[in-house]
Amino acid sequence: MTTAISVAGLHKSFGKTHALDGLDLEVEAGEVHGFLGPNGSGKSTTIRVLLGLLRADSGAARMLDMDPWTDAVELHRRVAYVPGDVTLWRNLSGGEVIDLYGRLHNGGRTRRGGKDGGRTGGLDPARRADLIERFELDPTKKGRTYSKGNRQKVALVAAFASDVDVLILDEPTSGLDPLMEEVFQRCVREERDRGRTILLSSHILSEVEELCDRVSIIRKGRTVESGSLADLRHLTRTSVTAELTGPPNGLASLPGVHELEVQDLEGQDAGVRPDGVRCRVRLHVDTDKLNAVLRSLTDSGVRSLTSTPPTLEELFLRHYQEDVQPDGRRDVQADGRRDVQADSRADGSEETVAR
Ligand SMILES: Nc1ncnc2c1ncn2[C@@H]1O[C@H](COP(=O)(O)OP(=O)(O)OP(=O)(O)O)[C@@H](O)[C@H]1O
Ligand SMILES: [Mg+2]
Repeated sequence: MTTAISVAGLHKSFGKTHALDGLDLEVEAGEVHGFLGPNGSGKSTTIRVLLGLLRADSGAARMLDMDPWTDAVELHRRVAYVPGDVTLWRNLSGGEVIDLYGRLHNGGRTRRGGKDGGRTGGLDPARRADLIERFELDPTKKGRTYSKGNRQKVALVAAFASDVDVLILDEPTSGLDPLMEEVFQRCVREERDRGRTILLSSHILSEVEELCDRVSIIRKGRTVESGSLADLRHLTRTSVTAELTGPPNGLASLPGVHELEVQDLEGQDAGVRPDGVRCRVRLHVDTDKLNAVLRSLTDSGVRSLTSTPPTLEELFLRHYQEDVQPDGRRDVQADGRRDVQADSRADGSEETVAR
């Protein structure tokens, strides 16, 4: 499997704010890669470096074997980008914006097609029409008149309809209603099936769980976890509740056991219960240590057992919560965005990429 995006040891500071502090990211060609992390952890900054909108202080970033800063023009032909806060040209209609991106992604060429034989940029007219219908978008309205969700749809249709190799989606569904979220998810799967590579930054965990083959979790500008969802599940804890007919010998000293609670049921009500149960234990266990715990429970005589597999949400929240201080304060950089111009490309392209 070849690598579509490769970021190593990336650093970027804005004044005293270290937005990226040695960030690593590997996205394989053809996968949907989730890019997660608390607010202000550096996801959008990484993406802006990858798009050539921002220059890193140090470290390496490559996409499709190109340097995003020096090969930006060629790269933008092969990469489509959807931010979470799409702004459109005020006087262009949604359809015109979609076609403009189509031409960008087709090296400036236009293609004739559609019912009226009109120009559709570099887009496949059937695919363009299909997406407009599925996202229930009116492409004739002017940019200034669209609602937030509809602006997102314009950018999504433009991206999904484009003939590109990589889709970079930075919280792309913010503002979409649940039905449109469904449409989005189906489109992402189709794109993956067509062999596209997708980097998806999202705070919607269900979306990530549904769509992503692998994820990278970042915190304070560094990657703290990376792997397939199955791999990450192994890092989590399983909850176990069991009723035992004997004492829970040695459970407390087993490696990987956390928050063990033993409830003695003997002597309550009418002494030993007719089913012979003497105690109930509850514990959390590192999932890779589950076997030893189950053996120990069996030795004590199991009458009933419930085991709840870890959810991804628990894993993510654990990573997110490591930023929370004892007083409940979040130890992340305050979002002090400023002076974007100083770090942007001279052609102001970031303004028109509907940021
Ligand atoms: N142009 C800028 N000028 C100054 N600081 C910036 C700028 N852009 C980003 N930052 C800072 O860099 C850090 C990382 O921001 P970034 O937007 O990359 O986070 P994020 O992970 O995308 O967060 P969110 O989940 O809220 O979108 C934050 O502290 C932010 O305030
Ligand atoms: Mg962001």
